[in-house]
Amino acid sequence: MQTEKEIKEMVKQKYSEIALQDKETNASSCCGAGSCSTEVYHIMSEEYNDLEGYNPDADLGLGCGLPTQFAKIKKGDTVIDLGSGAGNDCFVARAETGETGKVIGIDFTEAMVNKARNNAEKLGFNNVEFRQGDIEMMPVSENVADVI
Ligand SMILES: C[S@@+](CC[C@H](N)C(=O)[O-])C[C@H]1O[C@@H](n2cnc3c(N)ncnc32)[C@H](O)[C@@H]1O
Repeated sequence: MQTEKEIKEMVKQKYSEIALQDKETNASSCCGAGSCSTEVYHIMSEEYNDLEGYNPDADLGLGCGLPTQFAKIKKGDTVIDLGSGAGNDCFVARAETGETGKVIGIDFTEAMVNKARNNAEKLGFNNVEFRQGDIEMMPVSENVADVI
């Protein structure tokens, strides 16, 4: 049986592969990163295109149920996104918090965090921040979030 550490390493490895492959490969391959296998990475894909703040560069086809639709985010809120990937939900959340709010994405996969930071830089956002860390030991101080 695998330990929790081994399972997390395996998860990081898989998401690194997804983060490091180009968007075209990800979109065109039924099998995601690393050529065809029995694993399919599009099973949780959602339709983000019409959402305000949507950034195609951050959408790796990994969305899980459009969480911002239910999060009741208000202008000025501080939002934390757990498992932020390339920033897909963070940029949609940022459209809801506006310039006066703040969005913090947390992800333990280094390649995802790098991709997300790169996306935020390209968009010129200074109130969307990505931190590398495990969501079971969040790299955030207490009582900062209005919405998680
Ligand atoms: C299904 S993807 C979702 C990405 C993003 N929300 C989107 O819509 O594109 C899940 C992300 O969670 C991260 N993740 C999984 N377990 C984690 C953990 N324990 N701590 C931090 N990040 C984790 C993975 O690295 C991956 O980037």
